[in-house]
Order: sequence, then structure tokens, then C-alpha cells
Amino acid sequence: MRKPIIAGNWKMNKTIKEALEFAEAVKGKTCPDKAEAVICAPFTLLKDLKEAVVGTDIKIGAQNMHFEDNGAFTGEVAPAMLKEIGMDYVIIGHSERRQYFNETDETVNKKVLKALEVGIDPIVCCGETLEEREADKTKDVVKVQVEAALKDVAKEDLAKVVIAYEPIWAIGTGKTATSEQANDVIAYIREVVKGLYGELAEEVRIQYGGSVKPANVAEIMAQSDIDGALVGGASLKAEDFLALLNF
Ligand code: 13P
Repeated sequence: MRKPIIAGNWKMNKTIKEALEFAEAVKGKTCPDKAEAVICAPFTLLKDLKEAVVGTDIKIGAQNMHFEDNGAFTGEVAPAMLKEIGMDYVIIGHSERRQYFNETDETVNKKVLKALEVGIDPIVCCGETLEEREADKTKDVVKVQVEAALKDVAKEDLAKVVIAYEPIWAIGTGKTATSEQANDVIAYIREVVKGLYGELAEEVRIQYGGSVKPANVAEIMAQSDIDGALVGGASLKAEDFLALLNF
């Protein structure tokens, strides 16, 4: 049985003070039996946030990392640095990083392998543009992205990988994919993973992301193949995050 995973992606938002207020407000109020709760925050918040949720079921993740162990990579953060401060997850290949920061299928794959190597579970993002959807290329696009991301991932590590299907046209636009559209692509993604790993694919959690909010989370989570949500805007307020967890 796959445990649902609701992850907030704060993107480039919040001061330390705001993050700690959020942590205080959600501590003890999550629904651990129902879903795993994860907050993916900017680097400057991670250590404080992790310390603030010690002893709770809330997991903390980063939003990116480099694939090299260390070295002359000005401005980057190494995998072991995130592990050192107890990161549970790291988002890899978010469409904003692909669009603005030159993330490619190849670097996504290197980061996925490195995250698994250091013991941080990757949340790997995939998803099509509006143009690709309109040209009926959605499935081709996500197949290429997912197969590239999982290249050389060992069978034993597969269940640690979370995949987030985020159609780019639904991110921050208020336009949610219909829950049937999301479910259809997510079921297809599982078929793609099955093509690589057989029945082990049943253990991989696949989230939907793109304008998820308290008002639509129940419908999305009721779909047969959707195992969770990766939420941007609606994860920033503690009360909304708690409502999402209580889908
Ligand atoms: P929104 O929930 O703000 O649409 O963002 C989705 C997203 O990109 C999560 O990673």
C-alpha cells in the first residue's frame, strides 16, 4: 500500500521567522495516518525548520542540490551538506529549474542518483507545456523525462523515488488539470516505470502538482492512481497546509 505524500513547495518564499511560525502552527496537527507531510523550503530555512519539527512526523526537503560531491561550483549546495542537516527529501527537476536554470534530463538523472547515494529521497518532477499538451504530446514528453530521470536507478532504490507530475500550464495559473486528466497521465507514468522495473513500479508514489488547494485536493486524492500532491501557493499558509493534509 502506497502512503500518500503531501508536499509543500515553498519556492522562493519566507523568512526564518515566518518559517518557524508556520512550523509552530502545524506541529501536532498533521494527519500521520492519512498522509506523509513534507515541507520543501529554501536553503536558508532548512536547518531551523528541521530543528523546529524534531519529534514530529513532518519531513523537510530542499528544492534543489548539485550532483557533484563538492568543489568549485560557486553558489551551489552539495548533497552531503543537505544530508548533514537531516534533509529527508529533495525536489529535483522542477519545471522552474528546467526553464530558468538550465536543468536538463541529464542533470536531473545525475541528481537523482546522487540523492539516493547520500540517502535523501528525490521528488522528481516531470510535466508538459501547454503547447505540448495541445499538440497531444503529453505522454511522449513525460515518458522521455521519467525514463531519463530513472536511468541507472537500482531496483532496491526505486521505492524511495517519488515522482511528481506537474503540467507546466497548471502551475501557479489557477488552472488545475482535471482530476481525470491528471489521473490518466499518472497511470501512464506508472506504466512507463513498469516498462523499466516491472511490478516494483507499484511501490513508487506519483504525485500531482499544479494549482492544488484545499478546495480541490479531495477530488484529486480520490483518483485511483494519484498518491499525493506537490503544492506551491496553497502550502504557504499553515491553515491551508493542514487542510491539504486532511484531504
Ligand atoms: P502551485 O501549487 O502554486 O500551482 O505550484 C505547483 C508547483 O509548482 C509545486 O511544485
